[in-house]
Amino acid sequence: MAVFFKSRCVIIVFLVCVMVLSVGSEPTEDKQALLAFLSNTPHANRVQWNASVSACDWVGVECDPNRSFVYTLRLPGVGLVGPIPPNTLGKLSQLRVLSLRSNRLSGQIPSDFSNLTLLRSLYLQGNEFSGEFPASVTGMTRLTRLDLSSNNFTGAIPFTVNSLTHLTGLFLENNRFSGHLPSINPTDLVNFNVSNNNLNGSIPSTLSKFKSSSFTGNLGLCGEPLPPCNPFFPAPAPSPSNTPPSLPVHKKSKKLSTAAIVAIAVGAALLVLLLLFLLLCLRRRQRRRPGKSPKPTAAAAAATRAVATEAGTSSSKDDITGGSAEAERNKLVFFDGGVYSFDLEDLLRASAEVLGKGSVGTSYKAVLEEGTTVVVKRLKEVAVSKKEFEMQMEVLGKIKHDNVVPLRAFYYSKDEKLLVYDFMPAGSLSALLHGSRGSGRTPLDWDNRMRIAVSAAKGLAHLHVAGKVVHGNIKSSNILLRPDQDACISDFGLNPLYGNTTPPNRVAGYRAPEVMETRKVTFKSDVYSFGVLLLELLTGKAPNQASLGEEGIDLPRWVQSVVREEWTAEVFDVELMRYHNIEEEMVQLLQIAMACVSTVPDQRPAMPEVVRMIEDMNRSETDEGLRQSSDDPSKGSDGHTPPTESRTPPRAVTP
Ligand SMILES: *[C@@H]1O[C@H](CO)[C@@H](O)[C@H](O)[C@H]1NC(C)=O
Ligand SMILES: *[C@@H]1O[C@H](CO)[C@@H](O)[C@H](O)[C@H]1NC(C)=O
Ligand SMILES: *[C@@H]1O[C@H](CO)[C@@H](O)[C@H](O)[C@H]1NC(C)=O
Ligand SMILES: *[C@@H]1O[C@H](CO)[C@@H](O)[C@H](O)[C@H]1NC(C)=O
Ligand SMILES: *[C@@H]1O[C@H](CO)[C@@H](O)[C@H](O)[C@H]1NC(C)=O
Ligand SMILES: *[C@@H]1O[C@H](CO)[C@@H](O)[C@H](O)[C@H]1NC(C)=O
Repeated sequence: MAVFFKSRCVIIVFLVCVMVLSVGSEPTEDKQALLAFLSNTPHANRVQWNASVSACDWVGVECDPNRSFVYTLRLPGVGLVGPIPPNTLGKLSQLRVLSLRSNRLSGQIPSDFSNLTLLRSLYLQGNEFSGEFPASVTGMTRLTRLDLSSNNFTGAIPFTVNSLTHLTGLFLENNRFSGHLPSINPTDLVNFNVSNNNLNGSIPSTLSKFKSSSFTGNLGLCGEPLPPCNPFFPAPAPSPSNTPPSLPVHKKSKKLSTAAIVAIAVGAALLVLLLLFLLLCLRRRQRRRPGKSPKPTAAAAAATRAVATEAGTSSSKDDITGGSAEAERNKLVFFDGGVYSFDLEDLLRASAEVLGKGSVGTSYKAVLEEGTTVVVKRLKEVAVSKKEFEMQMEVLGKIKHDNVVPLRAFYYSKDEKLLVYDFMPAGSLSALLHGSRGSGRTPLDWDNRMRIAVSAAKGLAHLHVAGKVVHGNIKSSNILLRPDQDACISDFGLNPLYGNTTPPNRVAGYRAPEVMETRKVTFKSDVYSFGVLLLELLTGKAPNQASLGEEGIDLPRWVQSVVREEWTAEVFDVELMRYHNIEEEMVQLLQIAMACVSTVPDQRPAMPEVVRMIEDMNRSETDEGLRQSSDDPSKGSDGHTPPTESRTPPRAVTP
């Protein structure tokens, strides 16, 4: 009986196990390989993989959406020491990204790495790997980024690098590679560096498009972009595809007299001595700054450059204790539920483009290697401590709503504060309303303006009610458009980072009158700014625009003055006059806007009420069928119809 009972227990336990395993599915083989790697590689205690949870949830590990394979492994600066054991990482057959940079790994790259055929990015820089250029790597034909810099590799750079046809970046600097450079020629190669090796011979023409700083620190390299090779000491064994750069000079010298040859020889010898001297000086200077990680190349903006230097210094100091802790402290912090898988280094290497300069900092559009695009906001003059900064980030990172642009990650260091947001390719309301007005652009039609009004109101109401966050900077350039034309509000909740002072240069046209005195933003001051935004949608005029006609008048007062004189129709955007039967809706929205911009804060409605008012007004219109007033019966009632044709121009505008 007891035995029977016991065996039933075992079966139940077994069944539970099976159930648990099938629910929290995980890559069993990959997990074993990872555990074998970590247990055979000494490392700092910070990496602690719990064998009883799925490998997909481990620090530094990411899986495919089905959680059946490990896709990325990133263990930068975690104090890994010694050789990579064979039959461990080489078994992660589906791996896409491997970053083991800034550790103290040594020995050769295991030959089983040749099985990582799907790898896209391999970052091994800043270790102590040695041996020849790893042959296994040349089999990873899908590689786009290969970084072996700052290691102890020796021997020649093989011509087979050319089998990596997708390479966009090849970083081999700060090693001890020798021999001549093969003519490396992947079509998309944009970043290339072999400086500080022992290479000699002439630079192949395929590589001469790169800057000289990609080649410096090699005593024997010559030719474009470095000084030309000396014809009297011809470089031995140039690669077959090289264009012999010395040829024209040679031909000429044949016709010269002996005296001239002697003179040239002496001159050339002096030149060589001078060059040697210069290079020696250069090398010394470079040695004084050892282990510098490669700078962002591409069009990286000042933001990323500043951080790059910082990250570079921290990784050079990297060792098991101090340096890793430093690297840890300076890393990009992601919020839960995010969709991104990149690290600071990826961000530094992204190409960046300035989107706009605002009152709290500059925004960049950053395109990462794998094609992800994000917005990086570089904050200036943050006034609070790191702790307070992190607390506010925690609050903001939790806010999730369809009409709020999610904050995905942040970075804090002494000199640099970065925020990472989703990129909204459709641009801002400001650009839609005011960009290139009149020059044949499609005007923003009424249905879309209503849609923006209600969705932005919902986003702001969510911030206020669920997030308990004051936006503090509502303006049309912070209202971004999603692909489905709903609005999304961005740049929220940054005021607390500036202590008690409102950041300077805030656009005055949106600022509630009481904020001018108290310098404190509140829920009610957000409502005021939102009211101004509604007026902007209705009038098509930017607040504070000189075209308001009078000096020192703001949009609410301008509207009030016009409405008071019963010229209501004059208020509205001329671009809206082409649409038929929308006047009643416009007047209703105008009334809501005017309630929001009341000078007395307590008289302004709360945001959820604003949402209700706008929605109510919408609904009543649809119910009464007024919105289907178009003369064209083919147009639907869903409000998605294209702007220009959806409503015919009015026969007459009732004043
Ligand atoms: C590992 O995870 C299990 C289940 O989540 C947990 O009970 C256990 O405490 C963890 N062990 C360690 C060392 O964190
Ligand atoms: C995930 O699993 C589904 C069904 O099991 C399959 O159709 C799909 O291709 C898998 N996706 C990946 C990325 O493996
Ligand atoms: C590569 O994988 C195949 C099977 O997937 C295996 O037979 C082979 O031994 C592996 N090669 C190395 C070098 O581990
Ligand atoms: C690099 O390799 C050489 C010998 O091959 C060795 O003497 C030297 O210590 C190594 N340097 C490092 C930083 O491992
Ligand atoms: C260039 O490097 C190769 C390999 O290290 C060496 O054999 C050769 O002598 C070098 N040539 C010169 C001119 O230094
Ligand atoms: C190449 O690497 C060296 C050493 O790290 C650096 O000084 C140089 O600026 C780099 N060149 C380019 C073009 O990135």
